[in-house]
Amino acid sequence: MKRPILAANWKMNNGPTAAKAFMSAFLENYQPPGDRTVIIFPPAVDLITVAAATAARTDVIAGIQNIHWAEKGAFTGEVSAMMAKDAGARIVLVGHSERRHVFGETDAQCAKKCLAAAKVQLPFMLCIGEKIEQREAGETEAVVMRQLREGLSQTPNLISAEFMIAYEPVWAIGTGLTASATDASAIHTLVRSELKQMIGTRANEIPILYGGSVSASNAAGLLAAPEVDGLLVGGASVEATSWLTIAQT
Ligand code: PGA
Repeated sequence: MKRPILAANWKMNNGPTAAKAFMSAFLENYQPPGDRTVIIFPPAVDLITVAAATAARTDVIAGIQNIHWAEKGAFTGEVSAMMAKDAGARIVLVGHSERRHVFGETDAQCAKKCLAAAKVQLPFMLCIGEKIEQREAGETEAVVMRQLREGLSQTPNLISAEFMIAYEPVWAIGTGLTASATDASAIHTLVRSELKQMIGTRANEIPILYGGSVSASNAAGLLAAPEVDGLLVGGASVEATSWLTIAQT
């Protein structure tokens, strides 16, 4: 098994004061059961706080939830890949379902964001996943394959780029519904074989995470499923005690 990745996506929760308290509570008690990497994706305003708290570690890193594709300029409210890196981000989420479905982010924009991250050697985690109506219409495979291919289509030297994929069925995010370990495995296997078409055996090194209502009670089962290399956790990652249990799964 690859080094498991346990990733916390706080979304718009925990400001700098809460982030500081979270990080000290978590790091004081975190006893990694083995070889794993923990990623914390806080809101951008917390990045410096989380990066400072994890500066001495290689197994707990800070990430950013979103970037703009441009290097700089008149884009009010946005943060570039280089700025995120400068503030301590060591990875960026691209195309999270809330970015796609609340803010209207397209596959083409995701592709530009992956390119922007790769250009400054900021690893990225591309999120893909189908909506409930797409699942019910039997379109799951087509949707996730399109998001995968289009999202990665602009990244130069994909074969050597540092990236991960997160499969997050939209209907499972924040709903308490989770894909079964078998269903998650089936999609992850498809993703892996598509990646093999693109980058050959390097595909075996690309972590594929599952996300969508992961909790302390279902984390172990999902993590044990074939081709599930890690978990991306929203609601259950916002509070340190709950996150500690999952990170130590
Ligand atoms: P959830 O969110 O764990 O609250 O379902 C997951 C995510 O959106 O990354």
